[in-house]
Amino acid sequence: MFRQIAFLALALLPSTFAQISDDFESGWDQTKWPIFAPDCNQGGSISLDSTTAHSGKNSLKVAGAGGYCGHIFFGTTKVPSGGDVYIRSYVKAQTALNSDHVSFIIMPDPSLGTNEYLRIGGQSNILMYNRESDDATLPDLSPQGIATSTALPTNTWNCFESHVSSDGTIETWLNNNTIAGLTVGPGVTNPNADQWERANYKPDVTGVYFGWESYGGDVNTFWYDDVSISSSRVGC
Ligand SMILES: *[C@@H]1O[C@H](CO)[C@@H](O)[C@H](O)[C@H]1NC(C)=O
Repeated sequence: MFRQIAFLALALLPSTFAQISDDFESGWDQTKWPIFAPDCNQGGSISLDSTTAHSGKNSLKVAGAGGYCGHIFFGTTKVPSGGDVYIRSYVKAQTALNSDHVSFIIMPDPSLGTNEYLRIGGQSNILMYNRESDDATLPDLSPQGIATSTALPTNTWNCFESHVSSDGTIETWLNNNTIAGLTVGPGVTNPNADQWERANYKPDVTGVYFGWESYGGDVNTFWYDDVSISSSRVGC
């Protein structure tokens, strides 16, 4: 009986508590967090930075270059399999998000097509999601939609959290505050999600990558620390 229960508990463990996290105090483990730069890699770089950190003394510094090929990310395909993916990362940005479209977290999603990504980034000076397959944004980038998101404060460590679920749910928090415009899914009424909801999108992400990607000339440096990818919310 006990053995059966113990076996059951072990069997349930991986999907219930699946989590990958790092504070980078032991350095940058490039087997755990390999570089990822789909299609091309010209200019961006990643390094361990001991001059700024959210906790301890180390963080990962992503010096992103301009243009799509200046993109660079680090990340993992070890995402929880239960359908819920919670990302928590402390993020520091050197330069404010401006009117141009950029991404700083990308997630491959085969449900969108081969080499198509669910992307978190900025446009219209605010945090937003972008679905690569049809370029839909969450929220709609109308004045009303823009007002339901927020800027990313610069030169300070922000706690950024995203929940992406296979039931269609997306939730987003910045410094533990819900970002209303970046919330969608069953039972949620988001009046500024018309573009997003024109597809019946059920995320099925197979990886999570942190970094920098711009589609024009935008250049920025982002730092990441205390990253966690798990099947339930870990909080700030
Ligand atoms: C985050 O917000 C929730 C709900 O508002 C609250 O219960 C929790 O204590 C907050 N956590 C932190 C770390 O502030």
